[in-house]
Amino acid sequence: MRVSKFTLVLGLGGLVLTVEGTYQSSTCAALAAAFPGDVFYPNSTAYIQANDYWSVQQEDVHPHCFVAPRDTEGVSTAMKLLTSRNASFTVKSGGHTPFAGGSNIANGVTIDLVHLNGINISDDRQTVSLGPGNRWINVTEVLDPLNLAVVGGRSGAVGAAGLILGGGISYFSGERGWACDNVRNFEVVVASGEVVNASPEVNPDLYWALRGGGGSNFGIVTRFDLESFEQGDLWSNELTFPGALNATLLSLFQNLTINGMPSDPAAHSYLSIYYEASLGEYIVNTSFYHAGPPPPAASMPAVFEPFQSVPDAISNTTLVANISTHLGDVPIPYGFRQTWWNTAISATSLDLLTEIVSLFEARNAPLLAASNGSSTTPFLLFQALPLNILTQMQKNGGNALGLKPSDGPLLVVSIPTTWEDPRLDARIESSSRELIAQIERLAKQSNLDNGYVYMNYASSTQQVQKQYGEDNLRRLEEIARKWDPQGKLARLWPGYFKLDV
Ligand SMILES: Cc1cc2nc3c(=O)[nH]c(=O)nc-3n(C[C@H](O)[C@H](O)[C@H](O)COP(=O)(O)OP(=O)(O)OC[C@H]3O[C@@H](n4cnc5c(N)ncnc54)[C@H](O)[C@@H]3O)c2cc1C
Ligand SMILES: *[C@@H]1O[C@H](CO)[C@@H](O)[C@H](O)[C@H]1NC(C)=O
Ligand SMILES: *[C@@H]1O[C@H](CO)[C@@H](O)[C@H](O)[C@H]1NC(C)=O
Ligand SMILES: *[C@@H]1O[C@H](CO)[C@@H](O)[C@H](O)[C@H]1NC(C)=O
Ligand SMILES: *[C@@H]1O[C@H](CO)[C@@H](O)[C@H](O)[C@H]1NC(C)=O
Ligand SMILES: *[C@@H]1O[C@H](CO)[C@@H](O)[C@H](O)[C@H]1NC(C)=O
Ligand SMILES: *[C@@H]1O[C@H](CO)[C@@H](O)[C@H](O)[C@H]1NC(C)=O
Ligand SMILES: *[C@@H]1O[C@H](CO)[C@@H](O)[C@H](O)[C@H]1NC(C)=O
Ligand SMILES: *[C@@H]1O[C@H](CO)[C@@H](O)[C@H](O)[C@H]1NC(C)=O
Ligand SMILES: *[C@@H]1O[C@H](CO)[C@@H](O)[C@H](O)[C@H]1NC(C)=O
Ligand SMILES: *[C@@H]1O[C@H](CO)[C@@H](O)[C@H](O)[C@H]1NC(C)=O
Repeated sequence: MRVSKFTLVLGLGGLVLTVEGTYQSSTCAALAAAFPGDVFYPNSTAYIQANDYWSVQQEDVHPHCFVAPRDTEGVSTAMKLLTSRNASFTVKSGGHTPFAGGSNIANGVTIDLVHLNGINISDDRQTVSLGPGNRWINVTEVLDPLNLAVVGGRSGAVGAAGLILGGGISYFSGERGWACDNVRNFEVVVASGEVVNASPEVNPDLYWALRGGGGSNFGIVTRFDLESFEQGDLWSNELTFPGALNATLLSLFQNLTINGMPSDPAAHSYLSIYYEASLGEYIVNTSFYHAGPPPPAASMPAVFEPFQSVPDAISNTTLVANISTHLGDVPIPYGFRQTWWNTAISATSLDLLTEIVSLFEARNAPLLAASNGSSTTPFLLFQALPLNILTQMQKNGGNALGLKPSDGPLLVVSIPTTWEDPRLDARIESSSRELIAQIERLAKQSNLDNGYVYMNYASSTQQVQKQYGEDNLRRLEEIARKWDPQGKLARLWPGYFKLDV
């Protein structure tokens, strides 16, 4: 019998874990026999490469081994082998989940989908099929030269699978909805190891659930068939202002959300506020994008005009470029500690928005003081869910998120923090939890709360699917039970917004 490294470390005190550890290392040996050359053990070069995650918290987790199947059949083999042994596992696409255990696992096996990186374009240019091992930059590098695009991510290294399965906010959402709303078909390895398709025609229940319900409750998606469209270059403008102008800018952003975007669905925008240490002050960044044939760089789409007469811009950058260039234009580095939290509120009250800025500032002051000069950056981010996006979300029978046009217009308010010093972990997590709770309470007091939490921006402790509404929650649980009657995925694939099944 093989004895794993941590069995030795735990010694006699860890009897239960010792059995488990030995069990898992024999699982890795069985995988190594089934996947010659594609199972990686700790300290090998391949293992270190596979254990590459965006956040430090996920990178600090180490599985017993990685297995990197080559194709759908390989994923099915891995699923059968792991579930037949009751072995814990997880699945990695782009590895951008911030929290530990979101797509890596300490006492188990991580299935790395890196080799499932195919990209095929249908002859009629209407459908692009992606393997889940793709990152968005790999997709746009193929599509840009063809003047084609899909509704996908806005940052190059993010994985295709996680972004689509949780929702997927894109430059193109105004005209087309979120990424999940633009899936024609999923190919999925379900808990039994069977390969099934899910589309409006075939297994429509699974198709609905995979558009926002979270992959780990239903199966491993091995191919996404996405609607594609003619695009070409994309226009953008980014403005940076002193934080003191936050009320003026939020008022304009609110109007953009309520009136501007519905009148021009090619428009896309978000607004962020953060403390810029190099300037010694808070700044407000507004990011504007305009899809469709790009206007000349010098011209300004009318919908963004109102922002242009705000004085005192610190920076003002317009870019007309292919999507690959835009994906690289927002540098979001690896190697930091990260936590993400969010909630959704009505966009209709400027007072609520400025009070949220005050709460954010009040939370940050002691936090920045406690950082002792180590880099800590708390962000406040507003992303619009205008009526046109909420309307697009109803297509293909609607997604699982439970958002209706009558709920809107909404703003997703998120408060990601990036930091270095692990001694700040507890303080940052608890003050983030408290800040989100404060925002939710404040919104509720004026009936401006919505309750929706965006899975892809959520902390592991937020109750994401509960916020999709009781009917949707029950429907998701029923579908999970139907496709995994023995609850194997619920038991063996932990870590990411699990349903109670
Ligand atoms: C820098 C950065 C930029 C971002 N930009 C955007 C953006 O523009 N728009 C937006 O909406 N969101 C954005 N996000 C959020 C992003 O959508 C989520 O973090 C998403 O989960 C990342 O996907 P991934 O594949 O990289 O993550 P992973 O951590 O690999 O996977 C996420 C979850 O999906 C599961 N999973 C992975 N592959 C599969 C599969 N094939 N089948 C079933 N389950 C699977 C994993 O086990 C895990 O539970 C961004 C995040 C970061 C860090
Ligand atoms: C080998 O890997 C284990 C588990 O990831 C780690 O704890 C240990 O530090 C590594 N050893 C070396 C020499 O890198
Ligand atoms: C797997 O775990 C379940 C639940 O704990 C148990 O009922 C089943 O017998 C186990 N199967 C194996 C092969 O260990
Ligand atoms: C792409 O097409 C090839 C050849 O038909 C096929 O083997 C592969 O599975 C396809 N991949 C995707 C992601 O569609
Ligand atoms: C994805 O894109 C990156 C950056 O261009 C590149 O280094 C990597 O090799 C690409 N991966 C695949 C599978 O094409
Ligand atoms: C995108 O545009 C840049 C700059 O014009 C160019 O260098 C790059 O090759 C283009 N990328 C693709 C994938 O077309
Ligand atoms: C927001 O604006 C108000 C004045 O309207 C100002 O008091 C406050 O400090 C600003 N907040 C930030 C984060 O700059
Ligand atoms: C609000 O938005 C509409 C639609 O884009 C625009 O016509 C109007 O000028 C905007 N008002 C303000 C005050 O920005
Ligand atoms: C804010 O804008 C400045 C100037 O364009 C840019 O350098 C910075 O990266 C932006 N920050 C964020 C978080 O987008
Ligand atoms: C940004 O630059 C454009 C083009 O030079 C100009 O029209 C616009 O007024 C500027 N916007 C701001 C806010 O300064
Ligand atoms: C910051 O410095 C103070 C005083 O030296 C110390 O008590 C505290 O632990 C430090 N905090 C961090 C996060 O390093």
